Amino acid sequence: MRLIMESVNKTYRDKRGQETHVLQDIDLSVEKDEFLAIVGPSGCGKSTLLGMVAGLVPLTSGSISFALEDGQSPHAPRIGVVFQEHALFPWRTVQRNVEYGLEVQRIGKRERTERARTLIDMVGLSGFEQRYPHQLSGGMRQRVGIARALAIEPDLLLMDEPLSALDAQVRQLLQEELLRIWEQHRQKTLYVTHNIAEAVAMADRIVVLSRRPGRIRAVLTVEIPRAERSLPDRQTQVAEYQRQIWDLIRSDAEQALYEDVRG
Ligand SMILES: Nc1ncnc2c1ncn2[C@@H]1O[C@H](COP(=O)(O)OP(=O)(O)O)[C@@H](O)[C@H]1O
Ligand SMILES: [Mg+2]
Repeated sequence: MRLIMESVNKTYRDKRGQETHVLQDIDLSVEKDEFLAIVGPSGCGKSTLLGMVAGLVPLTSGSISFALEDGQSPHAPRIGVVFQEHALFPWRTVQRNVEYGLEVQRIGKRERTERARTLIDMVGLSGFEQRYPHQLSGGMRQRVGIARALAIEPDLLLMDEPLSALDAQVRQLLQEELLRIWEQHRQKTLYVTHNIAEAVAMADRIVVLSRRPGRIRAVLTVEIPRAERSLPDRQTQVAEYQRQIWDLIRSDAEQALYEDVRG
């Protein structure tokens, strides 16, 4: 299914009626087999946008819809979500965390077990099926989160800074892993990050958001084959994309820093 956002606006209102305009006039679609990254400074509304797509946060105006592609039979869109951290059920084992979405879909025990096993294997966690989240490292927990999101065979995969809480080495490894998994599955992905290098390494297109209210500053297509983005002779090109994006958000980021300092 294609995801289509039209003129999406979001304003939060607090108890005293104070309004914060968070997102303004977002027009965007995610096409077949596309990995779309959304990059922007902290607080620009990235998580809000994902929340709206997931149906967890109501829109203030505009619309978000899913359109069937040729040959697809009508069904409610299945959406897989991977958050930054703390999104696993602590009282469920790895196996049962991955099975969760399948239980919700009322898929039988046998198929559930099998599908979960396949995905646990794919994210490199065979042998850890009976562990609980607190018995795993941060990187392993994120792998479980990814397996759980993929288990339902989502029409759209949403990821909200899935690597941001990890230390640098684990992050690099998991990023490579994520790409390998993504190449196997290739479902539409909306990937939110404040990490520019991550976006350039992974995405087909990158949407750059401005600071509050978040508006689309630019949409870039990364014209380097994904598999070549880590090769030495592509680094000049990769750095050029990164520089372009940084230039777009630099002043916003500086302003945010200034506000943080003032508290
Ligand atoms: N439930 C909420 N109520 C009020 N304000 C919120 C709520 N959630 C987020 N915000 C505010 O909206 C802005 C965007 O937040 P968020 O979408 O989390 O940004 P990002 O993920 O890009 O860092 C921030 O200023 C944040 O404080
Ligand atoms: Mg966020």
